[in-house]
Amino acid sequence: MRPPRRPMGVVTRGTTNPNRLRRVDNWIAASCAGVLRDAVDPLVVDLGYGATPVTAVELRARLATAVRPDVRVVGLEIDPVRVAAAGYAADPPGLTFARGGFELAGLRPVLVRVFNVLRQYDEAQVADAWRTMADALAPDGLIVEGTCDELGRLATWLLVDRTGRPRSLTLAPRLGTLESPAALAERLPKALIHHNVPGTGVHALLRALEDGWRDAAPYATFGPRQRWLRTVEAVRAGGWPVLDRPARWRLGEITVPWPTVAPG
Ligand SMILES: C[S@@+](CC[C@H](N)C(=O)[O-])C[C@H]1O[C@@H](n2cnc3c(N)ncnc32)[C@H](O)[C@@H]1O
Repeated sequence: MRPPRRPMGVVTRGTTNPNRLRRVDNWIAASCAGVLRDAVDPLVVDLGYGATPVTAVELRARLATAVRPDVRVVGLEIDPVRVAAAGYAADPPGLTFARGGFELAGLRPVLVRVFNVLRQYDEAQVADAWRTMADALAPDGLIVEGTCDELGRLATWLLVDRTGRPRSLTLAPRLGTLESPAALAERLPKALIHHNVPGTGVHALLRALEDGWRDAAPYATFGPRQRWLRTVEAVRAGGWPVLDRPARWRLGEITVPWPTVAPG
């Protein structure tokens, strides 16, 4: 038997909050339901759950309710103190906690949610982290890697597949408190946040959203959802290959293929 690998990564700030990841969890339940339902072993890793296990508890509850009741979520943390502190919330076999890093502690999950983790690394480390996690995935496995603010009002994430490369970028602001889509710039995934400058795809996307949001201001009387829907329609009419259906746009999301925003 091979000796277990050392957890890959470093301990970082443990900030977390109840319901902070609600938007991405609901997106996972809708967009990744197929791989979870088809999986022989519906194993999901929540990598880097932070100072308290609350978002891992929520992920398990949401997936068990919306996708399959026998989902198994393993919260992995690189900080052994946080692993010990999460023990009270364990509910095996559906929810357990263990020490691990980007190598995923020898697990073969079909899905990894890794949120507000890579934000604290250097951009140069991101591709290696994706690759390491992707190598550990089950066949057809997926990684959802992203960032949000402390309360989850501004969230963005990438869907990364087994090649270790992203497929798509999703932006998900909470519409009730959104002043302008420009606010999303400060919460972009690490792979994009330093590339939001004129001439790049991500900059052009945020500009198109800002323009659309401004032009759709009259629809604010019908509520922020209508305004966002018009905004996404305008972005699409402008040539962006927006993914997903209007039902998801209405929730305050927009998803675009990775090549449209990939740096370089
Ligand atoms: C800001 S917290 C994020 C908590 C939660 N995911 C959220 O979004 O609310 C980041 C956590 O990731 C952990 N972490 C950092 N690098 C890691 C790695 N390579 N593997 C596992 N955990 C890691 C840190 O120890 C920290 O507890």
